[in-house]
Amino acid sequence: MERKLREKAKKVLNANYNEEGFTIPCEGLYPFQWKWDSGFIAIGFAHFDMFKAKKEVTTLLDAQWENGFIPHIVFHNESDSYFPGPDFHKSELHPLASKKYKTTGITQPPVLGFVLQELYRIANDKIDVLNFIKTEIDKVYNNHKYFYENRDPNNEGLVYIYHNWESGTDNSPIWDSVWETMEKDTPHYKFERRDTTHVDASQRPSSREYDYYLHIIEIAKANNYDDVKIAELSPFLIQDPLFNAMLIKSNQALIDLYKIIGNNDDKIKTLKDWQSKSKPAFNDKLFDKELGAYVHYDLRNERPIRMITSSSFSPLFGGIPSQERAGVLVNTLKAKFGGDDKYLCASFDPENENFNPKKYWRGPVWVNLNWLLYYGLMNYGYDDLALRVKNDTIELITKCGFYEYFDPRKEIYKKECSGYGGNNFSWTAALLIDLLDN
Ligand code: GLC
Repeated sequence: MERKLREKAKKVLNANYNEEGFTIPCEGLYPFQWKWDSGFIAIGFAHFDMFKAKKEVTTLLDAQWENGFIPHIVFHNESDSYFPGPDFHKSELHPLASKKYKTTGITQPPVLGFVLQELYRIANDKIDVLNFIKTEIDKVYNNHKYFYENRDPNNEGLVYIYHNWESGTDNSPIWDSVWETMEKDTPHYKFERRDTTHVDASQRPSSREYDYYLHIIEIAKANNYDDVKIAELSPFLIQDPLFNAMLIKSNQALIDLYKIIGNNDDKIKTLKDWQSKSKPAFNDKLFDKELGAYVHYDLRNERPIRMITSSSFSPLFGGIPSQERAGVLVNTLKAKFGGDDKYLCASFDPENENFNPKKYWRGPVWVNLNWLLYYGLMNYGYDDLALRVKNDTIELITKCGFYEYFDPRKEIYKKECSGYGGNNFSWTAALLIDLLDN
């Protein structure tokens, strides 16, 4: 049974692979290369086709900007099935943008450091993969340098994101309070959405939300994507626990890999300096003792956003909490997300009034966040709970297929299969392979 499922997952990945050397997240809905998707996809490929795994990473890094920035979408090809495309984003406004590819001017969580380490872990031929890592690792290091130098205006060790699409959790209820602050100044844009021609509108963000998404980018474009200006003017400026946990995890991965490679003491020192600042800042600023969970911080409006999401648990993956605090976090996870009537792990607090089990990042289960949670729980010795996350993930995919997201309510599956969004979704397939092979 598991063997069949694994074969199906390989088929999904191979079908989404483009001969130019990248894999689309899913046909129709997402027809280009996405940054953090590529990282997860590479991990899946590493289990059966290391050539494609390496290619995925090099192709993405080929679109890196001269300042170290890595964009969230690389528009390799023309496609009219997606909005907003290259003509809207206009990355060429930034003087250091990629000259080779059209891209966006926003980024996504910095997964590549730990992805390189995962390729090394998975590889049979360690020498070959280490040689590959040697050619790419400095690019990832430069990306981290970009973040610390341009995305941390108060020099706290915590970097900001300036767009909800940078978080990877596009329409999380977390952002609702930011949209309220933008309501007055955001025009009603005229645009033709393409996502709702592929997926039922009830599973996607509202059109008013799209106005905010576009408006933030208009402000950045009016300032040629200049980071200093963005820090000053963007109405959206958030310290996101998921994003920062990925950065911290990737810092550690780079330290470990540079040690294996040797002769990189200066970079190791800088990475360690970042870690010794970032980890305590993360624990001091982003942990909400009353909620027993990590939360987002709104840097523009100087207030914490006191709600629990699946991102709240990602610091376990980053090795950020103490063992004691990890225990607190796990209790919160069990109490709010872990009832017997639910699959782990809902993307938003099921007890909150804004929870919506069908709508994108407002409640459904996402396989990439489950994958992070699985390894995070293993990190701290919560093997049983980790196993539940793994089994829930496998069960959902077995029942419904390789969907983008899934309804967390068990009871609903008695009546219908409740996988939502895009089908034959690449990271669902890729990370399933990793979980099965592990
Ligand atoms: C959606 C997701 C984002 C992902 C992208 C491509 O926008 O929210 O995290 O990277 O789709 O799959």
